[in-house]
Amino acid sequence: MKIFIDTANVDEIREVASWGVLSGVTTNPSLVAESGRDFKELLAEIAGIVDGPISAEVMADDWEGMVEEARDLKKIHKNITIKVPMIEEGLKALGPLAKENIATNMTLIFSVNQALLAARAGATYVSPFLGRTDDIGGSGTELVKNIADIFKAHDIKTQIIAASPRYPKYTVECALAGAHIATIPYAVLKKMVKHPLTDIGLQMFKDDWNSMNK
Ligand code: E4P
Repeated sequence: MKIFIDTANVDEIREVASWGVLSGVTTNPSLVAESGRDFKELLAEIAGIVDGPISAEVMADDWEGMVEEARDLKKIHKNITIKVPMIEEGLKALGPLAKENIATNMTLIFSVNQALLAARAGATYVSPFLGRTDDIGGSGTELVKNIADIFKAHDIKTQIIAASPRYPKYTVECALAGAHIATIPYAVLKKMVKHPLTDIGLQMFKDDWNSMNK
């Protein structure tokens, strides 16, 4: 399973990219608004940091408008992947975008049926939202597992981006469930690095080393 970061904060992207673990970036309209940055400038800057898919969401309500926006965003960098919302107009946009070789990420997926429709309409990626599913009493991990099982059973090539994880344990659960990618917020990635026994062990090594060299 590959690791993407879910953020529009370039400092966070730079830091995690420096660890050598990042294969891509996802943004969404809320994250971009929070950044206060010009959308296109931001995407160009991210493309200079990470050499992998960078999801950018279209805001039109009709499929023709989505395709227009997608063409415009794609001009920024070859790695721009177009995030399309899971609505009927979004489904209609996927085929034309696939014909133009524009990669798509169908977002706001909360059911297996939505994922199946997105895949059959030509989505490159589907993004089931785990945390938001759990927020309303569902199981995000089960959702990812069911999508993964069905895609495997029917030889569907669309890749699953497990999105909206809230804790490090989601990363493990998504990998076990068969997600191809997890897109993870900065705070969760930072927690994934840490383990109390690592810190304790390191301190012991340092203390022992220093006592030997006295
Ligand atoms: C996915 O692509 C979305 O940007 C994201 O994972 C949403 O996460 P949230 O539910 O924490 O806002």
